[in-house]
Amino acid sequence: MARITASVYTSHVPAIGAAIDHGKTGEPYWQPVFKGYEFSKRWMKENPPDVVFLVYNDHATAFSLELIPTFAIGTAAEFAPADEGYGARPVPAVIGHPELASHIAQSVIQDDFDLTIVNRMDVDHGLTVPLSLMCGQPQAWPCRVIPFAVNVVQYPPPSGRRCFMLGQAIRRAIESYDEPLRVQIWGTGGMSHQLQGPRAGLINKAFDNAFLDRLIADPQGQSEIPHIDYVREAGSEGIELVMWLIARGAMSDVSRSTEGDKSPAVRHRFYHVPASNTAVGHLILENKP
Ligand code: DHB
Ligand code: FE
Repeated sequence: MARITASVYTSHVPAIGAAIDHGKTGEPYWQPVFKGYEFSKRWMKENPPDVVFLVYNDHATAFSLELIPTFAIGTAAEFAPADEGYGARPVPAVIGHPELASHIAQSVIQDDFDLTIVNRMDVDHGLTVPLSLMCGQPQAWPCRVIPFAVNVVQYPPPSGRRCFMLGQAIRRAIESYDEPLRVQIWGTGGMSHQLQGPRAGLINKAFDNAFLDRLIADPQGQSEIPHIDYVREAGSEGIELVMWLIARGAMSDVSRSTEGDKSPAVRHRFYHVPASNTAVGHLILENKP
């Protein structure tokens, strides 16, 4: 049986990818950001997953206003880094896991969550920047990756509650896969930021830290927060945070089982302002065996 070993949460700022690709991580502006991921890179090496189920959002790169899937699962064997206007990032291609992805699609769709199945897709900074932060600059990514794209760009995005319930369905799907794979689930995007309009540049440290606290201790309660609260408190792009609830919903303490305390261990927590226009938040939660 496959199992979810841990969940990872991180922002996905494009300028972080550019800083890595152009050798600027040691500059005074960037140093404190990358310091927050030193532990994480060691932890990834010590706890290597077979597969990362990577929840992210596409930024009008693979999709556009012509086609807006709410939830899209990548079932291809390989996904190329996208050209977002400055050429593709010089990072390895993403190797998928078509068998596990197809199994998850079948299980989750028949568990009443409609997914769009994507057999060809380039992946943008939403997916490649978290991989760079967690894995550094290897010749090849150290594991297979199943891209899972969520629409948080064009109204209406899915509710936090639905994301949280979808995470639970994804856990059931992974745990019914008949191969002993170690799977991590990542929730990416956020934290507070607004890239447009009169409030451009908005950051809300109090909201972000309360979100991290509650995501750990009361994810069910956090999942009930309506969109308008994210937009008011965390800015228009702060809505990316609903994706973190998919990863959190997949952790074992969220299951209805009553046997013992299964709350995840907090392996790492990091918060830094600013990176580009964004507050950077990062968590690693491990499932108890
Ligand atoms: C920035 C953040 C994002 O999430 C994004 O998708 C693009 C830009 C920024 O902080 O500049
Ligand atoms: Fe974004």
